[in-house]
Amino acid sequence: MPLYFTKKNVEDKVTNFINSKKRVGLVPTMGSLHDGHLSLIKKANINNDEVWVSIFVNPTQFNNPEDLNKYPRNLKNDIKLIKKISKNIHIYSPSEKEIYAGTPKINVYNFKSLDKQLEGKFRKNHFNGVATIVSKLLSLLKPNNFYLGEKDFQQTLIIKKLIVIEKINVKIIVCPTVREKNGLALSSRNKLLNKSLRDKSSIIFKNLCYLKENFKSSNLFNLKSEIIEKINSHKNFKVEYLDVADTKNLKICKKYTTKNSYRAFICVKVNEVRLIDNILLN
Ligand code: PAJ
Repeated sequence: MPLYFTKKNVEDKVTNFINSKKRVGLVPTMGSLHDGHLSLIKKANINNDEVWVSIFVNPTQFNNPEDLNKYPRNLKNDIKLIKKISKNIHIYSPSEKEIYAGTPKINVYNFKSLDKQLEGKFRKNHFNGVATIVSKLLSLLKPNNFYLGEKDFQQTLIIKKLIVIEKINVKIIVCPTVREKNGLALSSRNKLLNKSLRDKSSIIFKNLCYLKENFKSSNLFNLKSEIIEKINSHKNFKVEYLDVADTKNLKICKKYTTKNSYRAFICVKVNEVRLIDNILLN
């Protein structure tokens, strides 16, 4: 299986793909792969001539050094999982030095209202860090198709805006969230929880579904308070935010109107592990 650690090797391959007019898909990841990631890779593998999977735990998108240190890493197993899908997939797993050469520098973008709320409010500079690495990966690997998960819905809007700002010609494909049987969205961070807390974390999606059922008929403020109180009543669970926002610009919704489309977004700290999820409401 082709495995690349340096830009130089990759550049030769990319030139070769462009010259032979291959359709190229890229799935960016931070590794510690699970079935959510694999669903993106499988889709890319069906719809492209060549597929890149990047595996890089990007330091500039972590606002908390402890979170970065704790982030699960398992390149050997990631390679095994990708190999099971196809031995022809190209893995790009650079070192930090390879990507940032010296002290990591972060680009600052104007994402308008998109990075002011939700994750952006609680993780300062997170989306500038995401956009910085995505910009580097897109300009290096030059894919036709770029695969992202709906689980990080705010990230998908940020990246769609980034490619407009930087005039990058790439198609963004957003894939549905893969969940455990109990509804918990798969996440690399779930591995940081013991089985009992992982099981209990199914209350996050259950409550998003409860919000969806009730949000047209209830007072939104009261409904949110009820859910936050319910989740916080569990030991080790603390809601960081629960918001309903417009799906286009992520402006927070105070009152439902039929004119707009909305999504509910939640972040819960379970024993200090941040779990995020979202659901389309209408
Ligand atoms: P990471 O968290 O590894 O996720 C990589 C991709 O997998 C993202 O597009 C994410 O939305 C998607 N994904 C994660 N969990 C999923 C699930 N349960 N179902 C479907 N898709 C899922 O997101 C990042 O890495 C980074 O920010 C990155 C874009 C790689 C930039 O560093």
